[in-house]
Amino acid sequence: MAVLVTGGAGYIGSHTSVALIEAGFEVVVVDNFCNSKRYILDRIEQITGKSVRFYKVNVCDENVLSKVFSDAGDIESVIHFAALKSVGESVEFPEKYIKNNIGGTEVLLKVMAHHGVSKLVFSSSCTVYGQPETIPVDESAPFLPAESPYGFTKQACEEIITKHSSHTNGSEGFRSAILRYFNPIGAHPSGLIGELPLGIPNNLVPFLTQTVSGLRDSLIVFGDDYPTPDGSCIRDYLHICDLADAHVAALKNIPSGVRPYNLGTGKGVSVLEIIADFKKATLMEVPYEIGPRRKGDIVQIWADPSRAEKELKWKALRSKEEALIDAWRWQQNLNGAT
Ligand code: UFG
Repeated sequence: MAVLVTGGAGYIGSHTSVALIEAGFEVVVVDNFCNSKRYILDRIEQITGKSVRFYKVNVCDENVLSKVFSDAGDIESVIHFAALKSVGESVEFPEKYIKNNIGGTEVLLKVMAHHGVSKLVFSSSCTVYGQPETIPVDESAPFLPAESPYGFTKQACEEIITKHSSHTNGSEGFRSAILRYFNPIGAHPSGLIGELPLGIPNNLVPFLTQTVSGLRDSLIVFGDDYPTPDGSCIRDYLHICDLADAHVAALKNIPSGVRPYNLGTGKGVSVLEIIADFKKATLMEVPYEIGPRRKGDIVQIWADPSRAEKELKWKALRSKEEALIDAWRWQQNLNGAT
């Protein structure tokens, strides 16, 4: 039986596809390459030594997606990554985000029901919490008004999945693990897959590695006057391969009903600490300067990941130094390729 991975050529999707194949799962990838490249699929095959079944599909296209289920014939569960993820772009084009992220999830649920597939792992984000009142944040924290249309689509999709579950009476019932990611960083240790730099990176670590490699002049630290120990914002950064492993754990331990899980390390790290850690881990200087605050940034957030540890039997194991070394190796390989 196979797992359908939507967005399987993307950053989290590609690492998860590798982890699934290495755990013995049969993987079927769908992707439309709107934010990824076809060669990533070859790299997944290179790392795992297995061929990957693939369909170039937009998940919003119900008929085509349904044909994938019929054609593959053995899809038993789905991991749904395929979505747009740029916070800034979502502010500019909210309709596009609603159509793709919410529309795509609705179509997927419909097609799954039609084909009798009842297990779903959904890619969500800690953005659903906004700036929580209590840190570390656990899954009982309420959704605060979304900081961006992107955040709104994640909240809405979680609600749609929950509603869908209460209306579905499959033979063994609909089951879904909703995974709320904190900040994934790094790349596969092979240096063959990682986050693709399509456009100017918005996220800290890709911007940092591009700056160190000379592609950008300076990393701007968005504010050093926040009420945190060193004045810069705090996040919970986890290695992308740990995050990928969490999806395998979620499939193996899929809850009954719909249940959210925080995926993070449980530790908060500031922007300035990431810069210092990168220098220590790679011995490379990071040219940076302090700039103004970025609009909409959350001051500090980190996870209480204890539910995932208890119920999914998953824990982030890799260090942030390892993640930064792996991110740097990936950047150097990209530089070599251009
Ligand atoms: N930062 C900088 N300079 C940069 C880029 C980022 O100082 O050039 C800082 C940000 O201000 C923030 C931290 O680095 O304090 C992390 O920023 P990211 O953009 O890497 O990550 P965010 O936590 O802001 O956003 C991420 C995802 C979003 C998601 C959000 C919450 O990118 O998609 O987590 O889940 F919505």
